[in-house]
Formats: sequence, structure tokens, C-alpha cells
Amino acid sequence: MEKVGIIGGKFILKTKFFRDSKKKKIKTPFGVVEALSYKNSFLICRHGLKGEIPPHRINYKANIFGLKKLKAKYIFGFNSVGSLKMKIKPGDFLIPDDFIDFDPPTFFEEKMKFITPEISEKLRKVLIKIAKKLKLKFWSSGVYFTTKGPRLETKAEVNLIKNFADVVGMTMAKEATLAKELDLEYASFCSVDNFAHGIVKTSLSQEKIFKFQERSAKILEKVIEEVLNEDFD
Ligand code: HPA
Repeated sequence: MEKVGIIGGKFILKTKFFRDSKKKKIKTPFGVVEALSYKNSFLICRHGLKGEIPPHRINYKANIFGLKKLKAKYIFGFNSVGSLKMKIKPGDFLIPDDFIDFDPPTFFEEKMKFITPEISEKLRKVLIKIAKKLKLKFWSSGVYFTTKGPRLETKAEVNLIKNFADVVGMTMAKEATLAKELDLEYASFCSVDNFAHGIVKTSLSQEKIFKFQERSAKILEKVIEEVLNEDFD
């Protein structure tokens, strides 16, 4: 079985993978990453093993490079998003097939090399199969718009981007770009944890988003379990 890398949010710290794994420090040119070694896979909480790293400080390069160093071939991101569309509701899941990032990171700071960004169709199919098996309410495609954070978007920003994307988040696009640069396949399973600011009349706060994130944590644990049971060849 190919080695699989999982990158998720703080919910990872509440899963059995966190409790039952060996903690491993991986040195990379971009800093040290703490990964969880579980069966034939590695899991990273992008907010750190204490959950203290805010979105705009996540060490994306170290996380992706670290998984490459551990010989992972496939990376699955688990990312929290706000919905830009009334039909996509908090509690739903979405497997993006494309993304928008106007400030992408790169490993090739000093080298004339540009990749064509893409989400892995092979891994998306795996996630779609799992979502169907678990009978989740999910969207099998959609465009992810990335913002830098840590603040949420203004209503005017949401009004603009909703014409071009379905969900908004702060993390997935960075991981997808860097993974592609290192020839790793990447796909994401997004949990829709709120309507983006101004999509509905009710107010939006961090606390409300955290509450929804907690609700989806158990389901995400099951999805990861299915991913780790998958035979990729
Ligand atoms: N905006 C940006 N990132 C997010 C959101 C949002 O509404 N919800 C979860 N992550």
C-alpha cells in the first residue's frame, strides 16, 4: 500500500489517530513538523499538536515537504469552509475540483519552474466513493476560493467571490499547489461549517464556526478511517 498523508484541522487532535499514534518529528529545510505515525500513514494537524498555530502562520511548506520526505504519495486535506451558495448548507461536505488562489506559495523561489495546478481526480474519486458509502450529504465538485485570514471576509468580498466560487476557506489551495510542485497527488474533503459572511441574514462569529467544526469531527474521523483502508492501486 502506498503511504498516505493526511492534513487536517484541530479535529485531528480529538481523533483516535491522535490517541493511538506515535508522534514523530520531521526535520525539513522549512522547519520541524510534528506528524502522527498511524499504521502505514502520517497525519498532520496543520494548527500544530497543541492546536495553537493560526491559519496565516501555518507552515505549509514544511507540512508538504515533510510528507514527501516520509515517502507519502497521496495527500488528503480536510478543510473547513464557509459556503458562498444558499444551496450548500452548513453540515454538508464538498469535494472541490478546482480552486482560486491569487497569492499561491511556491517551493521554486529561485528556480524557473511553474507547474499547472490541479486537484487529483484519482483521489477525488476515492473521497466521492467514501462519502457515498457513509451516506453523507455532499457535493461532488465545486470551486474553493482561498483567503489569507485570519479574519473572515467582508460582505463585499463575499459578494464578489460568490460569482466565481462555491466555498471559501484559508488553507486548502496552499496545500494543493505545494503538493503538485512536489509531484504528490492531493485532494480535499471540505466540511461546510457556516454560510460565508452576508450570505444569510444571521450574524457570523468564530464561535459559531467552531461549534459546527466540532459537530463534523466525528464524521471526518470516519472518512479518514475509510481513506486509510483504501487500496490505491
Ligand atoms: N471564511 C474563511 N474561512 C473559513 C470560513 C469562512 O467563512 N469558514 C471556515 N473557514
